[in-house]
Amino acid sequence: MSTENLTYADQTTTDGGTKIWRGKLTFIMAAAGSAVGLGNLWKFPYIAGENGGGAFVLVYLACILLFGIPLMMAEIGIGRSTRHNAVDAFGTLAGKAGANPLWKGIGGLAVTTSYLILSFYIVVAGWCLYYFWITANGTFTATTTVDTAFTGGTFESLLADPVTLITFSVIFLLITFAIISSGIEKGIEKAINWLMPSLMLMLAVLIGYSAANGNFEAAVNFLFNADFSKLSSEAIFIAIGHSFFTLSLASASIITYGAYMPAKSSITKTAFAVAGIDTLVALTAGLAIFPLVFQFGLEPGAGPGLMFISLPLIFSDMPYGQLFGSVFFFMLFIAALTSAISLMEPTVAWLERRFSLRRRTATFLTTLSLWVVSLGTVFSLNIWNSPVFFGKTFFDALDYVTANVFMSIGAIATAVFCGYVLKRPQLDAMFSTDPQAIPVFRFFIRYVVPAFVAVLVIAAL
Ligand code: PFF
Repeated sequence: MSTENLTYADQTTTDGGTKIWRGKLTFIMAAAGSAVGLGNLWKFPYIAGENGGGAFVLVYLACILLFGIPLMMAEIGIGRSTRHNAVDAFGTLAGKAGANPLWKGIGGLAVTTSYLILSFYIVVAGWCLYYFWITANGTFTATTTVDTAFTGGTFESLLADPVTLITFSVIFLLITFAIISSGIEKGIEKAINWLMPSLMLMLAVLIGYSAANGNFEAAVNFLFNADFSKLSSEAIFIAIGHSFFTLSLASASIITYGAYMPAKSSITKTAFAVAGIDTLVALTAGLAIFPLVFQFGLEPGAGPGLMFISLPLIFSDMPYGQLFGSVFFFMLFIAALTSAISLMEPTVAWLERRFSLRRRTATFLTTLSLWVVSLGTVFSLNIWNSPVFFGKTFFDALDYVTANVFMSIGAIATAVFCGYVLKRPQLDAMFSTDPQAIPVFRFFIRYVVPAFVAVLVIAAL
């Protein structure tokens, strides 16, 4: 074969024996698929609602810009320059820098974080699948009177029913299993190439629908009018945690995907693109949901039930509500799926290498054990609805510990590692595509990220 006929991917697939994405845009789509998920569509609107809107949104945007983007650059660089899973990536870099090999513990923490998040993520994704099913079946349009008591009752009965919760989370888990076990190219890349464009299309349709049928002005006002008197320190803590969660940082996904990124793509442009898409989707989700909430005089701070209690009420009363409601929940399912893929890959990639397992075996073991852990979340919603940790149920504690504690520790440690432990030639190798970005990157990662995260966390505590 002459070199002229080689595609770019052909020239790089042999790099360190690790598979590299074929398409130039695959990394951006896969990382954006990881970032855009239930965090944007389900969590962001309700935490923005609970924390007063505008001022919270502003803090969240500042977090994305000040430490989200630098950390994303760091994680892509760590993955791509080593072409390893997160644990070995930290281990290899620490070894080359002559630092303590225990730094690979940060990789271990990140893999653990992704694994634990996935254990409850599949349960919430199961709710989305269930809601797609019942909305498409006409549950919210067939009955003559659909009111909050009805939609609230429907949601409560779902949470109270372990069998349905397990059934739908298992369906979701098996779909994730099927994609991951088919491999990086044939499974993940192929799925992402279909799922991401469909997701964007559905979101565009829904925002048009919402703008036509809802109170758009009230929504814009709520999301962008900053009233700092409503901002509590708890809200700041939540905004920091959420900025990590929404960008999939400190949880090994970006490092793992970075390992499959072509050597010639710019890290800076990619990080800005991924963070930009993620932020745009979160704001768009707010702009698709709140106009309807305000139009129908509902409570924006309704909490986690916003999506599952308030929205069905609205869909029951609107033109083509059954159709748009179904599209909405299907979109949530697709968004959750692209994130779940990225949450499972770090554990599978690590297991494959650590125990020399076949991909299928590693995926099977991960899936099976995840199912067992997910039962903790399922039961904490019904038969085990008692506080186990810090006065929180198992599910709430997992969510809190991963998004706020583990991710903050992981983020500060990653920043210190890149800013102080790695040697300059290692940074040069990491940023071979963007050498001009190194001084700014170094400044942010050395001073801004650790100081900001530490001060905000201390202030919030
Ligand atoms: N970013 C995803 C969301 O917003 O739903 C969640 C997530 C995916 C967190 C992957 C962490 C991760 F590694």
